[in-house]
Amino acid sequence: MNVLDLIIKKRDGYSLTKTEIDYLINGYANGEIPDYQMSAFLMATYFKGMNKDEIFALTMAMENSGKTVDLSQIKGFKVDKHSTGGVGDKTTLVLAPLVASLGIKFAKMSGRGLGHTGGTLDKLESIRDFNVNLSISEFIDQVENINIAIIGQTKEINVADKKLYALRDVTGTVPSIPLIASSIMSKKLAAGADAIILDVKVGSGAFMPNVEEALKLASAMKDIGTMANKKVTCVLTNMDEPLGLAIGNSLEVIEAINTLNGRGPKDLTELCLTLGSYLVVDAGLETSLEEARKTLLEQIRNGRALAKFVELVKAQGGNVDYIHHPELFDLGEVIELKAETSGYISRIDSYKVGHASMLLGAGRENLDSEIDYSVGIVLNKKVGDYVNCGDVLAYLYVNDKNVDEAYNMLKEAYTYTDKEITTKLILDVVR
Ligand code: URA
Repeated sequence: MNVLDLIIKKRDGYSLTKTEIDYLINGYANGEIPDYQMSAFLMATYFKGMNKDEIFALTMAMENSGKTVDLSQIKGFKVDKHSTGGVGDKTTLVLAPLVASLGIKFAKMSGRGLGHTGGTLDKLESIRDFNVNLSISEFIDQVENINIAIIGQTKEINVADKKLYALRDVTGTVPSIPLIASSIMSKKLAAGADAIILDVKVGSGAFMPNVEEALKLASAMKDIGTMANKKVTCVLTNMDEPLGLAIGNSLEVIEAINTLNGRGPKDLTELCLTLGSYLVVDAGLETSLEEARKTLLEQIRNGRALAKFVELVKAQGGNVDYIHHPELFDLGEVIELKAETSGYISRIDSYKVGHASMLLGAGRENLDSEIDYSVGIVLNKKVGDYVNCGDVLAYLYVNDKNVDEAYNMLKEAYTYTDKEITTKLILDVVR
């Protein structure tokens, strides 16, 4: 087989066979195919796309390029969750213990934040001594014993995706549906769960700018799941404002604790109950989404969901005093951002809010940036709220980094209208 022939085949719009895709991915993962040829192949794929069989073959080739996690020794129904990258998205911190408190096994490998989006690992590490670096066998044991573990993805998993993603990042080929779908699903399949719930973000700062494109991505990921014999549900959610009120690591953990206590923001609670209901039905604990939702609400009311979070923190070495007494979290100095006009808030640009939080030090400008867990933003108003000139829109928690720049960026995130508006969080579901 010849790489050049395969590049030309894709460039001219033909489909590749499984053998040809295996050859390309294995050759690239083991260094035999150079970056310049893979770049050309990625660009050809960006323009010509791939059919279902090609996308599935690409996903499997990527999954098989590294180790996979065998969860089969764990008794019970195993689930996993992925979000395509949100602002203020602390869903995993709530959903995982909520679902695990019912006996469903939540085995999750998470990522770190980059740019305007946060990462679950960074949030968890804001809890003193929390360890995200378990070995695969420790990970499996913990899921078996307490139904829940959240760790960082080990280097041995999906070797091809790491190289390919870095190359896509510098060749303008990230926003391609076959490439995004195979990248996400190859990691989820390698992690071994029976059911996967995918939160596909739509809007400012999301990979998918509109519902139409997000539906195409969701269908591609659901098709991969079906072909791999996994239950996959994609929930399309609105990212035209940040999720919940808090953005920034410690602030988001505090909001997750409040939500597990039944005192969380409406949108975050709604999203966790929606995602959780699908998983509860997939696991066969309830037959309808309505019953599943009631069961989950009861786990919040009776304190079992929060108790499971405490168990998770304890098992991974974290200091549980922070969960019982969130006031222990070290937070920056507070600055108020006030409205300079009156009206209904029509939009809070998630990208700008995430970027402002990153400038304060809550996120990473590049892979080596250090994170400041104590800074971030707490919104005081959401889209649809009416504000009078002088009302507090948000609180910035700051130390000494980029305060003016972040303040101005946050101010620019708000758009107003004189008409009442309604918002919708769940835009569609593909199942
Ligand atoms: N997230 C991933 O893991 N891969 C992509 O290609 C895009 C988002």
